[in-house]
Amino acid sequence: MDRPYIICHMVMSLDGKVTGDFLERSEYGKFIEEYYRIHREYGADGFLCGRVTMEGSFPQPPVPSKDYDGPPIDREDYIAEKAAFYAVAIDPNGKLWWSNRAISDPDEGYDGAHIIEVLTENAPDTFLAHLRDKGVSYLFAGKSELNFPLAVQKLKKLFGIKTLLLEGGGIVNGSFLQEDLIDEISLVVIPAAECSENAIPLFKTGKYGAKTALAKSFQLKEAKKLNDDGLWLIYTKNKKENEYV
Ligand SMILES: NC(=O)c1ccc[n+]([C@@H]2O[C@H](COP(=O)([O-])OP(=O)(O)OC[C@H]3O[C@@H](n4cnc5c(N)ncnc54)[C@H](OP(=O)(O)O)[C@@H]3O)[C@@H](O)[C@H]2O)c1
Repeated sequence: MDRPYIICHMVMSLDGKVTGDFLERSEYGKFIEEYYRIHREYGADGFLCGRVTMEGSFPQPPVPSKDYDGPPIDREDYIAEKAAFYAVAIDPNGKLWWSNRAISDPDEGYDGAHIIEVLTENAPDTFLAHLRDKGVSYLFAGKSELNFPLAVQKLKKLFGIKTLLLEGGGIVNGSFLQEDLIDEISLVVIPAAECSENAIPLFKTGKYGAKTALAKSFQLKEAKKLNDDGLWLIYTKNKKENEYV
């Protein structure tokens, strides 16, 4: 394959929601711990999230007040470093003003991951100059709209990422599903139904995300009980229906 093997790894409610009050309830904390354990045990070369998830998980500094006033910056991919583990951010217009080249997090499954920004050519020079200054890598995937197949090909070619965890949210998952870029789905299912109408589904449709109503087919590889009343489900792409190499 000319792209990484992509595993969508998420925690969800019984009714397929990935946000909501159920995630805050202390009795379900053990399932969140299981999610992080499984993340570590996959031993992937990186994880990827949408701009909203990155902002929520890793607090961002304020936007710098001073604009870049140097010469125009070419829209060329920038490899600040090759690392053992990467944090890939889908940030089409350049809104994540990282203050460091790597993630800082108490969980060793995330801490130290070198950041790669996936941008469109719309990202302003001030933003590109900031990333270079901080030692954050970036690549371009599309002029004004994201080209996800190109993005993941570049992740393999430029950074050597062979296995990638796709970790939400719903918009980014929906975009990958739409492009047939999900090889495996790993779900930690919490035994709660989330009734809020604002809760985000595992694969979101709409402005971004999946645009067609076509169902994609997967086959069950494994189902494990977690802590008596939770589940870990692993599905792989149904190769009979989705031929790919
Ligand atoms: N339960 C779990 O396992 C889990 C895991 C991860 C996240 N979450 C939750 O999910 C929530 C966020 O999910 P979300 O669906 O709102 O956001 P998201 O997928 O994290 O990020 C969406 C943003 O990414 C960019 N993007 C993604 N796909 C795009 C596309 N096809 N074209 C252009 N831009 C695209 C856009 O950024 P711009 O707006 O900058 O254009 C878009 O607004 C958070 O509350 C988080 O806690 C849950």
